[in-house]
Amino acid sequence: MRTRPFTPGKVISELALGTWGLSGDGYGPVSEAVQDEVIQRARAYGITLYETADVYGKGSMEQRLGKLLGADTAVSFATKLGTDLKSMPARKRFDPEYIQQCCRESCERLQRSCLDVLLLHNPAVQTLEQSAELVAALGELKAGGKIAAWGVSAGSAPVAQAALAAGVDVLELAYNIFCHSDLEGLDYGGRQVALLARSVLSYGLLCGQWPDNKIFAAGDHRQERWTTEQLRSRLRQLSVVSGMLGGEVLTLRSAALRFVLANPLVSSAVIGPRNRVQLDQLVREAGNGPDYLPSGVAQRAREQLARMGASK
Ligand SMILES: NC(=O)c1ccc[n+]([C@@H]2O[C@H](COP(=O)([O-])OP(=O)(O)OC[C@H]3O[C@@H](n4cnc5c(N)ncnc54)[C@H](OP(=O)(O)O)[C@@H]3O)[C@@H](O)[C@H]2O)c1
Repeated sequence: MRTRPFTPGKVISELALGTWGLSGDGYGPVSEAVQDEVIQRARAYGITLYETADVYGKGSMEQRLGKLLGADTAVSFATKLGTDLKSMPARKRFDPEYIQQCCRESCERLQRSCLDVLLLHNPAVQTLEQSAELVAALGELKAGGKIAAWGVSAGSAPVAQAALAAGVDVLELAYNIFCHSDLEGLDYGGRQVALLARSVLSYGLLCGQWPDNKIFAAGDHRQERWTTEQLRSRLRQLSVVSGMLGGEVLTLRSAALRFVLANPLVSSAVIGPRNRVQLDQLVREAGNGPDYLPSGVAQRAREQLARMGASK
C-alpha cells in the first residue's frame, strides 16, 4: 500500500476505508461478520485511515472500528459529527457544546483518547461563515489533546470553500471523473490542506456493471439519486470512460480509481467496498502507480465528457 502525506507530520495510506456502505446505512444491510472481515482485511492490506461517522449504524460502526482497531496505533480514524439523531426529527447541530459532547462519545466508541480527525458532517455554508465560536472550541479540543486535526466533509464546492476560509486541516468531498471541478476549482490560498476524495466510483456507477434497467432495492440511496432517464444517460456516458482502458488498466473501476489517485492534491481516496471481493478488486486495481494512467488519457476523457456536458 502506497502512502501519502496527510496532516503535518502524519502519513496515511493512499486508499482509506470509508464505512458508510459497510454500516448498512445508505446501500442496504451488511452482516457484522462481513463488516469485520472487510475492516480486518483492509488493515492487512496496509490501509491506515478509516473514515466513519457517529451516525453510521447509529454508532455501531465506530464501535466496531474501535473494537477491531482502537488499540492499533498505526491506524488513524477520521469521524464525522454534527447530526443529532436523538432530536425529533433528526437535525444538524454544530454548536460547540454538542460537538464537544459528540467528540467524547466518539472517543469512547473508537477506544481512543484522541480523535485523529474530527470532521463536521455536511454543514451549511452559513454554519461555516458563522463558526468563530465553533472554530475556537475545536482549537481548544486540539490544544487539550482530544483531537489531532479537524475538518469538514463538504457536500458542495461553496461549502468546501467556506471550510477552507474557516481554517480546516482536512477537507473531504466527492471527486470522480464525472464530478471533478469542485475539488479542482477551489482556492486553497496556498495552504496545505489534507484532501480526502470520496464517492470515487460515483456510488458504483463508474464500475460499468449495471444493466440499462438497473433497479435499486428499497432503502438504497441510489433509488433517489437518479431518475430512470438520468441513469440511462449516465450509463451511456461510460463509453467515454471505456476509452481510458488499455495497458494495465483493464476495468472501468480501475480507470475511475486511478483518475482520482493520479491527482497529487488528493491525500487519500476513500473507498467504500461492501464486501471482501469489492475490497480486493479496488486494492488490486489501484495498480502500481504513479503513473496511475498513461499520459493524456485522463485529460482526453475529461475533455470529451465536458463537451457532452456530462461532467462538472
Ligand atoms: N457526506 C459524507 O461525508 C460522505 C458521503 C458519501 C460517502 N462518504 C464516505 O465515502 C465512502 C465511499 O463513498 P460512496 O459510498 O459515496 O461512493 P463510492 O465509493 O463511489 O461507491 C460505493 C459503492 O460502490 C459499489 N462498489 C464498491 N466497490 C465496488 C467494486 N469493487 N465493484 C463494484 N462495485 C463496487 C458498492 O455498491 P453496490 O455493491 O451496492 O453496488 C458501494 O456501496 C463511504 O463509505 C463513506 O464512508 C462520506
